[in-house]
Amino acid sequence: MDTKLPDSGTTIFAVMSALAIEHKAINLSQGFPSFNPDQALLDLVTHYLNNNGNQYAPMLGVPALRQSIAEKVSMLYGRSVDPDREVTVCDGATEGLFSAIQAIVHPGDEVIVFDPAYDSYEPSVTLAGGKTVHIPLIVTTEKPDFHIDWERLKDSINEKTRLIILNFPHNPTGVILSAADLDVLADIVRDTKVYLLSDEVYEHIVFDGAAHQSFIRHDELWQRSFVISSFGKTYHATGWKVGYCVAPPALSNEFRKIHQWVCYAVVSPIQHALGDYMARTPDHYAALPAFYEEKRDRFCALVSESRFRFRPANGTFFQILDYSNITDEDDVSYAKRLTREIGVASIPISVFCEQTPASRKLRFCFAKDDDMLVEAAGRLCQL
Ligand SMILES: Cc1ncc(COP(=O)(O)O)c(C=O)c1O
Repeated sequence: MDTKLPDSGTTIFAVMSALAIEHKAINLSQGFPSFNPDQALLDLVTHYLNNNGNQYAPMLGVPALRQSIAEKVSMLYGRSVDPDREVTVCDGATEGLFSAIQAIVHPGDEVIVFDPAYDSYEPSVTLAGGKTVHIPLIVTTEKPDFHIDWERLKDSINEKTRLIILNFPHNPTGVILSAADLDVLADIVRDTKVYLLSDEVYEHIVFDGAAHQSFIRHDELWQRSFVISSFGKTYHATGWKVGYCVAPPALSNEFRKIHQWVCYAVVSPIQHALGDYMARTPDHYAALPAFYEEKRDRFCALVSESRFRFRPANGTFFQILDYSNITDEDDVSYAKRLTREIGVASIPISVFCEQTPASRKLRFCFAKDDDMLVEAAGRLCQL
Protein backbone atom coordinates (compact mmCIF):
# COMPACT_ATOMS: atom_id res chain seq x y z
CA MET A 1 0.00 0.00 0.00
CA ASP A 2 1.10 3.55 -0.70
CA THR A 3 1.42 4.62 2.95
CA LYS A 4 0.88 8.24 4.00
CA LEU A 5 3.29 7.85 6.93
CA PRO A 6 6.25 5.83 5.64
CA ASP A 7 8.48 6.73 8.61
CA SER A 8 5.91 5.97 11.27
CA GLY A 9 6.60 2.84 13.30
CA THR A 10 5.08 1.84 16.63
CA THR A 11 5.57 4.60 19.19
CA ILE A 12 8.42 4.04 21.66
CA PHE A 13 5.91 4.32 24.53
CA ALA A 14 4.07 1.22 23.33
CA VAL A 15 7.36 -0.58 22.65
CA MET A 16 8.86 0.09 26.10
CA SER A 17 5.63 -0.53 28.01
CA ALA A 18 5.20 -3.90 26.23
CA LEU A 19 8.82 -4.82 27.05
CA ALA A 20 8.25 -3.77 30.67
CA ILE A 21 5.23 -6.09 30.91
CA GLU A 22 7.12 -8.95 29.24
CA HIS A 23 10.00 -8.69 31.72
CA LYS A 24 7.86 -7.68 34.73
CA ALA A 25 9.98 -4.54 34.96
CA ILE A 26 9.21 -1.42 36.97
CA ASN A 27 7.74 0.78 34.26
CA LEU A 28 9.20 4.28 34.50
CA SER A 29 8.92 4.64 30.71
CA GLN A 30 5.46 5.85 29.65
CA GLY A 31 4.28 9.03 31.40
CA PHE A 32 1.36 7.90 33.51
CA PRO A 33 0.86 7.99 37.28
CA SER A 34 0.74 4.75 39.26
CA PHE A 35 -1.95 6.30 41.50
CA ASN A 36 -5.66 7.04 41.03
CA PRO A 37 -7.50 10.35 40.61
CA ASP A 38 -9.07 11.88 43.72
CA GLN A 39 -11.96 9.73 44.99
CA ALA A 40 -14.25 12.79 44.88
CA LEU A 41 -13.63 13.06 41.13
CA LEU A 42 -14.26 9.34 40.61
CA ASP A 43 -17.52 9.69 42.58
CA LEU A 44 -18.59 12.52 40.29
CA VAL A 45 -17.94 10.36 37.21
CA THR A 46 -20.10 7.62 38.77
CA HIS A 47 -22.75 10.20 39.55
CA TYR A 48 -22.95 11.44 35.96
CA LEU A 49 -22.88 7.89 34.59
CA ASN A 50 -25.97 7.18 36.70
CA ASN A 51 -27.70 10.51 36.13
CA ASN A 52 -28.22 11.12 32.45
CA GLY A 53 -24.69 12.14 31.56
CA ASN A 54 -24.33 9.58 28.80
CA GLN A 55 -25.48 11.14 25.53
CA TYR A 56 -23.47 13.24 23.07
CA ALA A 57 -21.87 16.31 24.59
CA PRO A 58 -21.97 19.57 22.57
CA MET A 59 -19.29 19.69 19.89
CA LEU A 60 -17.36 22.43 21.75
CA GLY A 61 -17.52 20.62 25.09
CA VAL A 62 -19.89 20.64 28.07
CA PRO A 63 -20.64 24.34 28.91
CA ALA A 64 -19.91 23.97 32.65
CA LEU A 65 -16.49 22.47 31.89
CA ARG A 66 -15.62 25.24 29.41
CA GLN A 67 -16.71 27.76 32.02
CA SER A 68 -14.44 26.13 34.64
CA ILE A 69 -11.53 26.19 32.18
CA ALA A 70 -12.14 29.88 31.43
CA GLU A 71 -12.22 30.69 35.16
CA LYS A 72 -9.00 28.81 35.76
CA VAL A 73 -7.27 30.56 32.86
CA SER A 74 -8.41 33.94 34.13
CA MET A 75 -7.26 33.20 37.69
CA LEU A 76 -3.87 31.74 36.71
CA TYR A 77 -2.94 33.64 33.58
CA GLY A 78 -4.86 36.91 33.99
CA ARG A 79 -6.76 36.72 30.71
CA SER A 80 -10.50 36.67 30.39
CA VAL A 81 -11.35 34.13 27.67
CA ASP A 82 -14.82 33.54 26.28
CA PRO A 83 -15.80 29.91 26.95
CA ASP A 84 -18.09 29.91 23.91
CA ARG A 85 -15.67 31.35 21.40
CA GLU A 86 -12.21 30.53 22.76
CA VAL A 87 -12.34 27.20 24.64
CA THR A 88 -12.83 23.78 23.00
CA VAL A 89 -12.72 20.45 24.82
CA CYS A 90 -10.89 17.78 22.81
CA ASP A 91 -10.08 14.10 22.84
CA GLY A 92 -6.89 14.42 24.87
CA ALA A 93 -4.10 16.84 24.05
CA THR A 94 -3.20 14.52 21.16
CA GLU A 95 -6.40 15.39 19.29
CA GLY A 96 -5.96 19.06 20.17
CA LEU A 97 -2.46 19.08 18.69
CA PHE A 98 -3.60 17.17 15.62
CA SER A 99 -6.62 19.40 14.98
CA ALA A 100 -4.62 22.61 15.44
CA ILE A 101 -1.97 21.37 13.01
CA GLN A 102 -4.56 20.31 10.40
CA ALA A 103 -6.33 23.65 10.83
CA ILE A 104 -3.30 25.77 10.14
CA VAL A 105 -0.77 23.83 8.04
CA HIS A 106 -1.22 23.72 4.24
CA PRO A 107 0.74 21.49 1.83
CA GLY A 108 4.29 22.81 1.46
CA ASP A 109 4.26 24.81 4.71
CA GLU A 110 7.15 24.46 7.14
CA VAL A 111 6.60 23.74 10.83
CA ILE A 112 9.39 24.23 13.35
CA VAL A 113 9.75 21.85 16.31
CA PHE A 114 12.46 21.67 18.96
CA ASP A 115 14.26 18.35 19.48
CA PRO A 116 13.79 16.29 21.53
CA ALA A 117 10.17 16.76 20.33
CA TYR A 118 7.05 14.89 21.46
CA ASP A 119 6.48 12.18 18.90
CA SER A 120 2.97 13.08 17.69
CA TYR A 121 3.98 16.42 16.15
CA GLU A 122 5.79 15.30 13.02
CA PRO A 123 3.25 12.69 11.78
CA SER A 124 0.47 15.27 12.22
CA VAL A 125 2.45 17.82 10.18
CA THR A 126 3.18 15.20 7.51
CA LEU A 127 -0.52 14.31 7.21
CA ALA A 128 -1.29 18.00 6.67
CA GLY A 129 1.25 17.99 3.79
CA GLY A 130 3.72 20.11 5.75
CA LYS A 131 7.45 19.73 6.29
CA THR A 132 8.81 19.47 9.84
CA VAL A 133 11.97 21.49 10.50
CA HIS A 134 13.86 20.26 13.56
CA ILE A 135 15.91 22.61 15.73
CA PRO A 136 17.76 20.91 18.59
CA LEU A 137 17.49 22.39 22.08
CA ILE A 138 21.02 23.24 23.15
CA VAL A 139 23.15 23.08 26.27
CA THR A 140 25.97 25.59 26.76
CA THR A 141 28.57 26.20 29.48
CA GLU A 142 26.80 29.41 30.52
CA LYS A 143 23.38 27.74 30.43
CA PRO A 144 23.71 24.03 31.19
CA ASP A 145 19.95 23.32 31.07
CA PHE A 146 18.45 22.54 27.64
CA HIS A 147 17.22 25.73 26.01
CA ILE A 148 16.13 27.21 22.68
CA ASP A 149 18.81 28.48 20.32
CA TRP A 150 17.04 31.76 19.53
CA GLU A 151 19.50 32.76 16.78
CA ARG A 152 18.94 29.47 14.99
CA LEU A 153 15.19 29.89 15.34
CA LYS A 154 15.39 33.38 13.86
CA ASP A 155 17.50 32.10 10.95
CA SER A 156 15.14 29.17 10.30
CA ILE A 157 12.04 31.31 9.76
CA ASN A 158 11.30 32.02 6.09
CA GLU A 159 8.23 32.77 3.97
CA LYS A 160 7.20 29.09 4.10
CA THR A 161 7.20 28.91 7.91
CA ARG A 162 3.61 28.58 9.05
CA LEU A 163 3.80 27.26 12.61
CA ILE A 164 6.20 26.84 15.54
CA ILE A 165 5.36 24.10 18.03
CA LEU A 166 6.63 24.61 21.58
CA ASN A 167 6.20 22.38 24.61
CA PHE A 168 7.09 23.86 27.99
CA PRO A 169 7.29 22.46 30.67
CA HIS A 170 9.19 20.22 28.29
CA ASN A 171 8.82 16.50 27.84
CA PRO A 172 11.37 14.84 28.03
CA THR A 173 13.95 17.29 29.43
CA GLY A 174 11.83 18.88 32.18
CA VAL A 175 12.96 22.44 31.35
CA ILE A 176 10.63 25.45 31.48
CA LEU A 177 10.47 28.88 29.82
CA SER A 178 10.94 32.19 31.63
CA ALA A 179 8.87 35.33 31.06
CA ALA A 180 11.93 36.79 29.28
CA ASP A 181 11.94 33.82 26.86
CA LEU A 182 8.37 34.64 25.85
CA ASP A 183 9.43 38.22 25.12
CA VAL A 184 12.33 37.01 22.96
CA LEU A 185 9.96 34.76 21.01
CA ALA A 186 7.54 37.68 20.57
CA ASP A 187 10.39 39.79 19.11
CA ILE A 188 11.26 36.99 16.67
CA VAL A 189 7.74 36.37 15.34
CA ARG A 190 6.49 39.98 15.50
CA ASP A 191 6.73 40.82 11.78
CA THR A 192 5.94 37.33 10.51
CA LYS A 193 2.73 35.44 9.73
CA VAL A 194 3.82 32.50 11.88
CA TYR A 195 1.31 30.86 14.23
CA LEU A 196 2.26 29.21 17.52
CA LEU A 197 1.10 25.91 18.97
CA SER A 198 1.94 25.76 22.66
CA ASP A 199 1.68 22.28 24.16
CA GLU A 200 1.23 23.04 27.87
CA VAL A 201 0.05 19.66 29.14
CA TYR A 202 2.42 19.95 32.14
CA GLU A 203 1.28 23.52 32.96
CA HIS A 204 0.60 22.63 36.62
CA ILE A 205 3.83 20.73 37.22
CA VAL A 206 6.50 23.41 37.71
CA PHE A 207 8.99 23.33 40.59
CA ASP A 208 11.11 25.45 42.93
CA GLY A 209 8.60 28.29 43.15
CA ALA A 210 8.74 29.10 39.41
CA ALA A 211 5.54 30.18 37.64
CA HIS A 212 4.38 28.50 34.45
CA GLN A 213 4.66 30.97 31.56
CA SER A 214 1.55 30.18 29.57
CA PHE A 215 1.27 31.74 26.12
CA ILE A 216 -2.20 32.80 27.27
CA ARG A 217 -0.50 35.21 29.66
CA HIS A 218 1.47 37.05 26.97
CA ASP A 219 -0.52 39.75 25.12
CA GLU A 220 1.35 39.48 21.83
CA LEU A 221 1.93 35.72 21.69
CA TRP A 222 -1.67 34.99 22.66
CA GLN A 223 -2.95 36.63 19.45
CA ARG A 224 -1.32 33.92 17.32
CA SER A 225 -1.42 30.91 19.68
CA PHE A 226 -3.29 27.67 20.09
CA VAL A 227 -2.70 26.58 23.70
CA ILE A 228 -3.29 22.90 24.42
CA SER A 229 -3.62 21.23 27.81
CA SER A 230 -4.61 17.81 29.16
CA PHE A 231 -6.71 16.79 32.15
CA GLY A 232 -4.86 13.45 32.09
CA LYS A 233 -1.68 14.96 33.53
CA THR A 234 -3.44 17.28 35.97
CA TYR A 235 -5.92 14.82 37.50
CA HIS A 236 -3.89 11.56 37.36
CA ALA A 237 -6.26 10.26 34.67
CA THR A 238 -4.22 9.83 31.48
CA GLY A 239 -6.54 7.04 30.29
CA TRP A 240 -9.52 9.38 30.08
CA LYS A 241 -7.94 11.23 27.14
CA VAL A 242 -9.66 14.56 27.75
CA GLY A 243 -7.90 17.83 27.00
CA TYR A 244 -8.68 21.29 25.69
CA CYS A 245 -7.60 24.02 23.31
CA VAL A 246 -7.71 27.71 24.25
CA ALA A 247 -7.21 30.10 21.32
CA PRO A 248 -8.50 33.50 20.13
CA PRO A 249 -11.86 33.36 18.27
CA ALA A 250 -10.52 33.26 14.69
CA LEU A 251 -8.10 30.45 15.56
CA SER A 252 -10.69 28.55 17.62
CA ASN A 253 -13.06 28.80 14.69
CA GLU A 254 -10.58 27.06 12.37
CA PHE A 255 -9.68 24.57 15.10
CA ARG A 256 -13.33 23.59 15.51
CA LYS A 257 -13.74 22.99 11.76
CA ILE A 258 -11.27 20.11 12.12
CA HIS A 259 -12.23 18.98 15.62
CA GLN A 260 -15.82 18.33 14.59
CA TRP A 261 -14.72 15.85 11.91
CA VAL A 262 -12.00 14.18 13.98
CA CYS A 263 -14.15 13.31 16.97
CA TYR A 264 -17.19 15.64 16.97
CA ALA A 265 -17.60 15.50 20.76
CA VAL A 266 -15.70 14.15 23.77
CA VAL A 267 -16.86 11.54 26.34
CA SER A 268 -19.76 13.17 28.25
CA PRO A 269 -19.87 11.84 31.85
CA ILE A 270 -16.19 12.62 32.34
CA GLN A 271 -16.66 16.17 31.02
CA HIS A 272 -19.56 16.75 33.42
CA ALA A 273 -17.51 15.35 36.29
CA LEU A 274 -14.43 17.42 35.47
CA GLY A 275 -16.46 20.62 35.17
CA ASP A 276 -18.08 19.99 38.53
CA TYR A 277 -14.83 18.97 40.22
CA MET A 278 -12.90 21.98 38.91
CA ALA A 279 -15.57 24.34 40.22
CA ARG A 280 -15.58 22.64 43.64
CA THR A 281 -11.87 21.87 44.01
CA PRO A 282 -9.70 24.53 42.35
CA ASP A 283 -6.99 23.81 44.92
CA HIS A 284 -6.24 20.40 43.35
CA TYR A 285 -3.96 21.81 40.67
CA ALA A 286 -2.56 24.35 43.13
CA ALA A 287 -1.18 21.42 45.15
CA LEU A 288 0.37 19.61 42.16
CA PRO A 289 3.75 21.41 42.08
CA ALA A 290 4.52 20.50 45.71
CA PHE A 291 3.22 16.94 45.22
CA TYR A 292 5.47 16.25 42.23
CA GLU A 293 8.40 18.29 43.55
CA GLU A 294 8.56 15.92 46.50
CA LYS A 295 8.63 12.96 44.12
CA ARG A 296 11.34 14.59 42.00
CA ASP A 297 13.43 15.28 45.10
CA ARG A 298 12.97 11.73 46.39
CA PHE A 299 13.94 10.16 43.06
CA CYS A 300 16.91 12.50 42.59
CA ALA A 301 18.17 11.88 46.15
CA LEU A 302 17.94 8.13 45.58
CA VAL A 303 19.76 8.15 42.22
CA SER A 304 22.41 10.58 43.45
CA GLU A 305 24.09 7.43 44.86
CA SER A 306 24.36 6.02 41.31
CA ARG A 307 26.78 6.59 38.43
CA PHE A 308 24.12 8.45 36.46
CA ARG A 309 24.52 12.22 36.17
CA PHE A 310 21.61 14.64 36.09
CA ARG A 311 20.24 18.12 36.62
CA PRO A 312 16.96 17.98 38.53
CA ALA A 313 13.92 18.66 36.30
CA ASN A 314 12.35 22.13 36.60
CA GLY A 315 8.93 20.81 35.65
CA THR A 316 6.94 17.77 34.28
CA PHE A 317 7.10 14.37 35.96
CA PHE A 318 10.19 13.23 34.07
CA GLN A 319 13.81 13.09 35.10
CA ILE A 320 16.59 12.76 32.53
CA LEU A 321 19.58 10.65 33.62
CA ASP A 322 22.85 10.77 31.69
CA TYR A 323 24.62 7.40 31.58
CA SER A 324 27.81 8.37 29.72
CA ASN A 325 29.81 7.43 32.85
CA ILE A 326 28.51 3.88 32.62
CA THR A 327 28.60 2.84 28.96
CA ASP A 328 28.93 4.01 25.36
CA GLU A 329 25.98 1.91 24.23
CA ASP A 330 23.28 3.70 22.19
CA ASP A 331 20.26 4.74 24.21
CA VAL A 332 17.62 2.53 22.53
CA SER A 333 19.55 -0.67 23.12
CA TYR A 334 20.62 0.44 26.63
CA ALA A 335 17.00 1.23 27.62
CA LYS A 336 15.91 -2.19 26.36
CA ARG A 337 18.83 -3.91 28.12
CA LEU A 338 18.04 -2.19 31.46
CA THR A 339 14.44 -3.35 31.11
CA ARG A 340 15.50 -6.95 30.49
CA GLU A 341 18.45 -7.17 32.87
CA ILE A 342 17.61 -5.02 35.90
CA GLY A 343 13.86 -4.68 35.39
CA VAL A 344 13.64 -0.88 35.07
CA ALA A 345 12.01 0.54 31.92
CA SER A 346 12.79 4.06 30.67
CA ILE A 347 12.53 6.00 27.41
CA PRO A 348 15.58 6.65 25.19
CA ILE A 349 15.84 10.31 24.19
CA SER A 350 17.17 9.82 20.65
CA VAL A 351 13.75 8.69 19.40
CA PHE A 352 12.52 12.27 19.89
CA CYS A 353 15.32 13.71 17.75
CA GLU A 354 15.95 13.96 14.02
CA GLN A 355 19.68 13.60 14.63
CA THR A 356 20.97 11.29 17.34
CA PRO A 357 22.34 13.48 20.15
CA ALA A 358 25.96 12.99 21.16
CA SER A 359 25.09 12.62 24.84
CA ARG A 360 23.71 9.42 26.36
CA LYS A 361 20.40 10.05 28.10
CA LEU A 362 17.33 8.19 29.27
CA ARG A 363 14.02 9.58 30.56
CA PHE A 364 12.48 8.21 33.76
CA CYS A 365 8.90 8.99 34.88
CA PHE A 366 8.66 9.69 38.61
CA ALA A 367 4.84 9.91 38.76
CA LYS A 368 4.95 6.67 40.70
CA ASP A 369 4.35 5.44 44.23
CA ASP A 370 7.35 5.90 46.49
CA ASP A 371 8.03 2.18 46.91
CA MET A 372 8.35 1.83 43.11
CA LEU A 373 10.77 4.77 43.00
CA VAL A 374 12.84 3.33 45.86
CA GLU A 375 13.03 -0.10 44.23
CA ALA A 376 13.84 1.29 40.76
CA ALA A 377 16.50 3.67 42.08
CA GLY A 378 18.05 0.85 44.13
CA ARG A 379 18.48 -1.19 40.97
CA LEU A 380 19.90 1.80 39.05
CA CYS A 381 22.41 2.41 41.85
CA GLN A 382 23.80 -1.09 41.44
CA LEU A 383 24.95 -0.41 37.87
C1 LIG B 1 4.22 16.78 25.63
C2 LIG B 1 2.95 15.99 25.52
N1 LIG B 1 1.99 16.42 24.69
C3 LIG B 1 0.84 15.74 24.55
C4 LIG B 1 0.61 14.57 25.25
C5 LIG B 1 -0.67 13.83 25.02
O1 LIG B 1 -1.63 14.09 26.00
P1 LIG B 1 -3.02 13.31 26.01
O2 LIG B 1 -2.78 12.01 26.69
O3 LIG B 1 -3.96 14.20 26.76
O4 LIG B 1 -3.44 13.12 24.60
C6 LIG B 1 1.58 14.08 26.11
C7 LIG B 1 1.38 12.82 26.83
O5 LIG B 1 2.30 12.21 27.32
C8 LIG B 1 2.79 14.83 26.26
O6 LIG B 1 3.76 14.42 27.08
